[in-house]
Amino acid sequence: MATPTALTLADRFDQKAFDAIYSRALVYNTCWEDPAVDRLVLSIAPDDRMLVITSAGCNVLDYALVGPDHIHAVDANPRQNALLELKLAGIRRLQFEDFFAAFGHGYHPRFETLYRQALRADLSAFARGFWDRRVRWFGNPHGSFYFHGLSGIVARAFQHYLRVRPRLAASIADLFATRSLEDQRAVYDTRVQPLIWTPEINWTLSRQLTMSLLGVPHPQRKEVQEQHARGVPGFVRECIEYVFRQLPVWTNYFWTVYLRGRYSADCCPEYLRPDNFARLKGQGQGDGLAARISLHTATVSEFLAASAQPISKFVLLDHMDWMSSYHPRALAEEWSLILKRARPDARIIFRSAHAAPAYLERLEIGPQRTRLHARLRFHPELAAAVQPLDRVHTYAGFHIADVPA
Ligand SMILES: C[S@@+](CC[C@H](N)C(=O)[O-])C[C@H]1O[C@@H](n2cnc3c(N)ncnc32)[C@H](O)[C@@H]1O
Repeated sequence: MATPTALTLADRFDQKAFDAIYSRALVYNTCWEDPAVDRLVLSIAPDDRMLVITSAGCNVLDYALVGPDHIHAVDANPRQNALLELKLAGIRRLQFEDFFAAFGHGYHPRFETLYRQALRADLSAFARGFWDRRVRWFGNPHGSFYFHGLSGIVARAFQHYLRVRPRLAASIADLFATRSLEDQRAVYDTRVQPLIWTPEINWTLSRQLTMSLLGVPHPQRKEVQEQHARGVPGFVRECIEYVFRQLPVWTNYFWTVYLRGRYSADCCPEYLRPDNFARLKGQGQGDGLAARISLHTATVSEFLAASAQPISKFVLLDHMDWMSSYHPRALAEEWSLILKRARPDARIIFRSAHAAPAYLERLEIGPQRTRLHARLRFHPELAAAVQPLDRVHTYAGFHIADVPA
């Protein structure tokens, strides 16, 4: 296997900084990948046993609503699983109104009481230790849970920036109030676009620290830079222009929660809709769809090495971008385990910052050092067909691969 490019001193420093930040924090307070697009290509069926990387757990709950047999939610960061644990305890123990206040609006005046009286007993020791010190994240009437966690810090910083840019703040508020693409485009083109792409915004977007807070380690940032003449700021601008000129803002809960700090009843993830909440909850005898979810704090490889169950659907987010530069051997080992545990006809989906990441071409699996593309059937046309619908739209690569039946 060809070794990736040598790391500069700056790269090593960035990596140390990223690991230091990442290994102590909740990074994602909401999933930044569109499950509606995933559903289109996963065709989840009642006999499916899925492996899904947890992140903030929103998408795990989304897939559970389709009724697969079981979902293994796996994440190497125990804080991500602690967030899903809290949501699952909330689904079991809370009424919808209380649950929506906490995870829809990110604020509930009595959340600490609900946590101590109804939720805490359901949590693992790690999750209890984590939320005992952070339950106040849901208790600030002028704040929001969605301004916490590393990605939340960036959202909160942007809110502070808007306080000193009232015209931009008003334009963005009007953009989110539009209810036709024509109006939306007009507000974006004439009022938001001329005000937002300032030198300070471009400078902030070109900082590794900003990207690290957004869970983008420097190999991933480099993948973006390589693809875009104007670097990360140019790439982000292109994504935002596509999202706000081509996709209806009123159903885009991804950008809504970061620009408003909260969801609304008609613009939110599926698990926050009352009927779906009832289906996840069931009659309270563990008969709800949420009962089909189990959590595992482990790497994908550790989980697959420890479990003998065949998996039919894999949702691996963009974590391979994280591994490709620093742990290429671990990535090859992970793919070997995926192929070992995959049910014949299994489907694997993942995203990447690069449209055609070099590590996919380089990967060699097993003692025969077989190329990945020789073991899997990729569907680039299907990926290209659904990617324009992606409401997040910050991943150049979307990959759909099948294990031959
Ligand atoms: C790159 S992020 C994906 C986040 C996703 N884009 C999102 O916004 O929802 C990767 C997620 O995978 C987890 N992760 C990274 N490497 C992993 C591994 N080898 N095994 C399991 N989880 C991993 C991280 O903790 C994080 O929650």
